[in-house]
Amino acid sequence: MEIVIVRDAAEAGRVAALKIASVVERKPDAVLGLATGSSPLGIYESLAARVEAGELDFSRASGFALDEYVGIPLDHPESYASVIRRDVVEPLGMDPARVRVPDGRADDIEVAAAEYDEAIAAAGGIDIQILGIGANGHIGFNEPTSSFASRTRIKTLAPQTRADNARFFDDPSQVPTHCMTQGLGTILDAHEVVLVAQGSAKASAVAGMVEGPLSAMCPGSALQLHQHATIVVDEEAAALLTLSDYYRYTYANKPVWQRFEH
Ligand code: GLP
Repeated sequence: MEIVIVRDAAEAGRVAALKIASVVERKPDAVLGLATGSSPLGIYESLAARVEAGELDFSRASGFALDEYVGIPLDHPESYASVIRRDVVEPLGMDPARVRVPDGRADDIEVAAAEYDEAIAAAGGIDIQILGIGANGHIGFNEPTSSFASRTRIKTLAPQTRADNARFFDDPSQVPTHCMTQGLGTILDAHEVVLVAQGSAKASAVAGMVEGPLSAMCPGSALQLHQHATIVVDEEAAALLTLSDYYRYTYANKPVWQRFEH
């Protein structure tokens, strides 16, 4: 894992965006793993500004969303299909036909989930997976006790996750109870992963993910098994890391050939 500690939330978005930009510059038809939530918004804003300036082009890239609610209409403003279209596809100028979101309304959820994993594999796998982390350590919607080997499937949302996401809905009771999410095994198959976390509410989850034992109780800790995971955190989210001086030292002394900043 590479841990990058930055000043604030805005800087986290900017630095993580450099990582995604470098992949798309190298491979214009890259396959992106797309996360929702507030954490990656700074990434998308930073990338959109570079698209606007004519420096980056996502028109040939494709995308697979991490997850989707089960039980809300596709055109609901908070369905992840809507969120991905609004926050990612439109601002980045992606081709909507090349972006898929798990089908939370499928008649046969199990078949739809298996097909989703098959589609990712058929696309050559995800080149770079963008991630946030929940306060309880979830990534995607893989709640605590999710199997590290799990594939895309239906999950029940933890009460804390429903409460955390209530801010997006008019009424907390409207937050769906279920979702379809890429599994931890699906996420670990991505060629590269970049996770962003900002704010003190994420500090405990970040510490568990980076320095805690490998444990299904902290699904993010599965990323310790990934060969190429970059974790970009602001000072507040890094507050409970015991080796933060070492991470700063490592980043400050990165050899030029390893740097992803321009
Ligand atoms: C959401 C999403 C996750 C996200 C997490 C944190 O419910 N399913 O992909 O990383 O919870 O959300 P936020 O970034 O808004 O804190």
